[in-house]
Amino acid sequence: RRNGALAGRRVLITAGPTREAIDPVRFLSNRSSGKMGYALAWAAREAGAEVVLVSGPVSLTPPAGVEVVAVESAAQMYAQVMAQVTDCDVFIGAAAVADYTPVTAAGQKIKKHRDRLQLELVRTPDILAAVAGHRPRPFTVGFAAETERVREYARDKLARKGLDLIAANPVGPSQGFDRDDNTLWVLWPGGERDLGTASKRELARRLITLIGERYGQENST
Ligand code: PMT
Repeated sequence: RRNGALAGRRVLITAGPTREAIDPVRFLSNRSSGKMGYALAWAAREAGAEVVLVSGPVSLTPPAGVEVVAVESAAQMYAQVMAQVTDCDVFIGAAAVADYTPVTAAGQKIKKHRDRLQLELVRTPDILAAVAGHRPRPFTVGFAAETERVREYARDKLARKGLDLIAANPVGPSQGFDRDDNTLWVLWPGGERDLGTASKRELARRLITLIGERYGQENST
């Protein structure tokens, strides 16, 4: 394994949710546990890569030998990823980055004076699209979390964001987020492969092997 295409390569991975502050004690977030991203960090390390994991708030122990950069918000994750992007060979975006953040975070705890409260939200920077648009750019791998038409939406994200590869997973109340197993379908510009349903560790191994193959092909010609 350590003689594969990823041996000695620098792999940058995002994992977990982000938290978008509403006030000093409240935030918007999602159900990501970080398990998929941490499993990928473990598998990339096992394949001999130098791994940097930019992680949102999770309660997991980082794999041995992996450098962890802890962040909270989408803006912080964006800044940390962009600071490292020039130095990495492969980028994998497994984080569930919030798509929207409050326009302003209140400076003090919001009081419950009113029956209704409106929050105004604004789009967060798209980290994956920024990495794919960077020059020089790493081999860029995204995830697609979809509740329906998984392969179709994933194929669309692959093309729209200009990715080298995308891993699509069906998500819902009993799929994808915060579980030990997952189902992955991988697509790239010239093909696709079903990685099946298995533990996130096993799927991470399969995905890292496939990324090594595709990365090796693109960088040997
Ligand atoms: O963490 P777990 O509990 O183990 O769950 C794993 C997972 C379901 C979170 C993971 O497998 C997964 O699918 N991660 C991506 C979740 C997601 O936000 O998907 P998306 O389809 O909304 O986003 C597409 C891609 O763009 C992702 O690679 C995402 O990291 C990236 N993105 C999205 C928004 C944004 N502002 N910046 C981004 O980089």
